Amino acid sequence: MRPQFCGIVDALPPDKSISHRAALIGAISTGETRIENFSASEDNQSTLSALRQLGVFIHQEGSLMQTVSIRSNGLFDLKPSLSPIQCNNSGSTMRMLAGILAAQPFCSTLVGDSSLMQRPMKRIATPLARMGARLSLSENDTAPIQICGKKPLLPIVYHTPVASAQVKSCLILAALHADGTSEISESIPTRNHTEIMLGLIDPEHAQTPEKITVHGLKPIEAKSFFIPSDASAACFLVALALLSRSSELILKHVCLNPTRTGFLTILARAGATVRTENVRNIGGERIGDLVCTNLSLETPLRISDRALIANAIDELPMLGVLSALATEEFELHHAEELRTKECDRIAALVLNLRAMGFLCEEFPDGFCVKGRTTTPNKLIHIKTFNDHRIAMSFGVASYFSDAELVLDDCNCTAISFPNFFELLDSLKHS
Ligand code: S3P
Repeated sequence: MRPQFCGIVDALPPDKSISHRAALIGAISTGETRIENFSASEDNQSTLSALRQLGVFIHQEGSLMQTVSIRSNGLFDLKPSLSPIQCNNSGSTMRMLAGILAAQPFCSTLVGDSSLMQRPMKRIATPLARMGARLSLSENDTAPIQICGKKPLLPIVYHTPVASAQVKSCLILAALHADGTSEISESIPTRNHTEIMLGLIDPEHAQTPEKITVHGLKPIEAKSFFIPSDASAACFLVALALLSRSSELILKHVCLNPTRTGFLTILARAGATVRTENVRNIGGERIGDLVCTNLSLETPLRISDRALIANAIDELPMLGVLSALATEEFELHHAEELRTKECDRIAALVLNLRAMGFLCEEFPDGFCVKGRTTTPNKLIHIKTFNDHRIAMSFGVASYFSDAELVLDDCNCTAISFPNFFELLDSLKHS
């Protein structure tokens, strides 16, 4: 018997990407920024603690400390940190904060945990150096990042060579501190939360499909932000509903910004259309409820469209595991960026799917699943590589596997989804 998952979920984690951005923009605004429903995830707490290390006044209240007030005197109010700034596992914290530090009149060092210290940082160092900051990286172009800022920065015209919202956002934040007008463009559109906030701050910062224009050195007046539920977190529950075939889950107040809902498009193309209800706009973001009833995959997922991949980048691990379990087939190309995430997600997925008996082939930019041998063992050990999305993808699989899946680390789910397994267990009706 497949387990069923039923319920109305209105406490999904608040969006991680929007939470980071609201806090960082609060730290360079003048006055008090108030953020409602700030994410309690470890990554977002890393952004707050990094800002506190830089002297920013932050007050948190509420049972989960999710109401956050940030007080600042504007663009250049950060104070030097005596010790290296600890970003833990959070690439967003490191890359986006670097954009602000590049403009401060002091030197800083950014460090992280063993995963973050292996992730590529040249993608931000090159353009920030062109704006006049002095940066140095390890010999592998990774952190520690040493940044000696230039106040003010030089404006930049830059086309991002890799599809990365973190790089784009780093440069937008830096451009706010530049003496002149910057233009940033990207070949493949990525999540646009920073641009949406930029429009709220000052409509003069123009955005067209071709480029983002940022006018530097304009004071930013503090605003209030409300953070909707995280679409990336919702994806795991959508997969759960799909794998159980007749679960009834309603996921409330989910961010449905089209730059984040590539996974819904991918699923709809394979016959699994998730209904949306109560769609509305809050703070420039599209928000609504996802209704997951009678979902099933009619065909295996085959993903190779770069634009769609950019809008589903964090959901690809779950989609791969879902397609393997539901259809014993999957195919992914043009997703080489997955190798630069919290772990090499292509290698991690292939290793664990093979352990589950799936026949996989690995490519430099993806992998495929073509069938399954008999389930090898009663007990299958899953290596999460301390990567929250690998842990949650196989965590979902563990409810539907004949063999028992034992994850070597479940705690890492708190990076983006505190109490992930508790929530899933509370929704389960077997
Ligand atoms: C994020 C952008 C993506 C994504 C990450 C969050 C963001 O990273 O994978 O989880 O908040 O901007 P890249 O910019 O490296 O693609």
